[in-house]
This record gives sequence, structure tokens and C-alpha cells, in this order.
Amino acid sequence: MRAVRIHERGGSGGLVLEDAPRPRPATGDVVVRVHAAGFVPDELDWPGTWVDRAGRDRTPSIPAHDVAGVVAEVGYGTAGLAVGDRVFGLTDWHRDGAAAEYVAVEARNLARLPESSTFTEAAALPLAGLTVWQALFVHGGLESGKSVVVHGGGGGTGSLAVQLARGAGAHVIATGRARAADVATEMGAHVFVDLERQRFEDAVGPVDLIFDTIGGDLLARSAGRVGPGGALVSITAPPPVEPENGRAVFFIVEPDRAQLAEIARRAESGRLRAHVGAVYPLAETREAFEAKRKGVPGKVVIEV
Ligand SMILES: NC(=O)c1ccc[n+]([C@@H]2O[C@H](COP(=O)([O-])OP(=O)(O)OC[C@H]3O[C@@H](n4cnc5c(N)ncnc54)[C@H](OP(=O)(O)O)[C@@H]3O)[C@@H](O)[C@H]2O)c1
Repeated sequence: MRAVRIHERGGSGGLVLEDAPRPRPATGDVVVRVHAAGFVPDELDWPGTWVDRAGRDRTPSIPAHDVAGVVAEVGYGTAGLAVGDRVFGLTDWHRDGAAAEYVAVEARNLARLPESSTFTEAAALPLAGLTVWQALFVHGGLESGKSVVVHGGGGGTGSLAVQLARGAGAHVIATGRARAADVATEMGAHVFVDLERQRFEDAVGPVDLIFDTIGGDLLARSAGRVGPGGALVSITAPPPVEPENGRAVFFIVEPDRAQLAEIARRAESGRLRAHVGAVYPLAETREAFEAKRKGVPGKVVIEV
């Protein structure tokens, strides 16, 4: 098959389109004929790109762990999916990703994709959608009537957080650069704080939840705006300062079929839209990574 692989560390310049063996399904796997894939630019620095779960070198490795496509083969003992099913999901960080014609994935990491969703939109949803679901509802305890700040509310992850939080009945304050204001507001933010003009803590009082997708100094300063019993949930780094009367959480997203199904239901009914900033063909995966690094807003999707 054709696949984009990386042979050694050193950034996205090392991504090359070449022939690679078509994967075989292991027990519990399906092989997906990939139609679209999504990625996080930082993933080339993550250990899972370079070693398997036992720490053994697994290069050359295929990036892009968001997948949308059609089941082409079913492994021994795999239940719940059949050849021809449209699916989407998040593949294991320690195995090959989806910048390829085929990818082998544990079936439990996939959910059925509604007929009304395109593969391109669907590839922008798993990683960002699961991250947000887990940040808001699993780690953040968000529920109707609570208040939430989403730092980076116009980004690939943040824009989904704004929609899911609003849909859950929360009061949503999004932050970001001025150019993110329209996206965050269209997605449902009640308030937008332009971080280029204002410190967020000058605009926002104590809230129940702060979800941070930006990190750095903003993450450190955020602890001071978490109200009693609230939480500061970060996906960029462990918060360096704990909220005085609340919790600080850093986590890495996990695949979860039931949560994916919730995300699919909301996408199907139009309650959740991925913010796709650009689409590239498989042969231009390197350019796709570079475009995201240079600041294309939202998710960049690779069509296969
Ligand atoms: N822990 C996990 O499991 C997990 C899962 C998913 C993602 N992540 C991490 O989460 C982060 C966000 O990912 P993403 O895909 O959502 O990225 P993204 O699409 O680039 O979104 C980040 C948003 O934050 C804004 N932003 C960044 N720096 C800013 C600053 N200094 N001031 C104001 N706004 C700023 C960006 O605006 P501009 O575009 O204008 O810069 C963008 O709107 C990445 O570091 C990623 O690696 C972690």
C-alpha cells in the first residue's frame, strides 16, 4: 500500500510517501480502508511515534491517529463491526496511524459513522472530540448551570469544547487571539476574551471549570480563577499551580467507543461541527503538518 512514514526523529521534514506492507488485523482488530486522517502536530515528538508499548523501536512509523473510513477486514474474535461498515475513531499512539491506504485498529477504538457525516469531517472529530468529552465531563465534572472558560476556544479542540459545553447548558467563556473570536462565538461562546488585548483574569471572575488548550504562562495564571470546588483541566502540561480550593488535572486522551458514539450522535444531529481549517491529499502530508505548525486554524485533515 501507499503510506506516509517517518524513519527518524527531526520533525515533519522527515515524512515521506512510500510503499509499506498492508497491515494484517490482529485479534480484536479491524483493518480500515482509510478515507481521511487527522493528526496533532506535536505527535512526532511523542514516545508512541518511536517505540511500541514495550519500549522497542517501531520505526518507520506512520503518523495521524484520527481515522475515518470503511472496514475492509475483520480480525479473529472481533465483534461489533463488519466489512463495509463506515467507521471513525482514534488509533493507538504506539501503533501505526492512518496516513496510509489501510490501518489496523482495535475495533473497540472505533464507532459507526452516521451516513450523513463525511469522512473528512469525521476525521477531525475523534481525537479532539474525545479529548473535550473527557476534559469537560470526565475530569471537569461540567453540568448544566456551571461556568466554564475554554482557553483557545477557536482551535481544533477548543471549538468543540465550546459547542459541547454550550450544549450541556453551561455558561461558556472562550479565550484566544482576536482572529478566533468569530469561530468561538459562532460555536456558542457567550463571551469571548481577546487575549491580545486583555488579561483573561481581568475579564473573568471565579468559574467552575477552566479547560486549557494553550498552556504556558496562561495555564499557570489560570489556577487563581478556579472557584471553590472547581477544576483546572489541562491537555498541554500539568498545571504548575494548584487552585486554592479546587482540583488540577492533566491527562492524555484515551480511545472510548461509547464516548465516540455520543460524539457521532451530536455530529449527526448538527449539534457538533468540526472546525476543519484545511484539507491536504495523502501525498502532501508533510505540507499538512507544516501548515498546521504555521498556524492554520482548526483541524487539518488528510484525504486518502
Ligand atoms: N493531552 C491530550 O490528550 C491532548 C489531546 C489533544 C491535543 N492536545 C494538545 O492540545 C493543544 C491544542 O491542540 P489543538 O489541536 O486544539 O491546537 P490548535 O487547533 O492550534 O488550537 C489552539 C488554539 O489556541 C490558540 N492559541 C495558542 N497560543 C495562543 C496564545 N499564546 N494566545 C492566544 N491564543 C493562543 C490558537 O490560536 P492560533 O491558531 O491563532 O495560534 C488556537 O486557536 C496542543 O498542544 C496539543 O498537542 C493534547
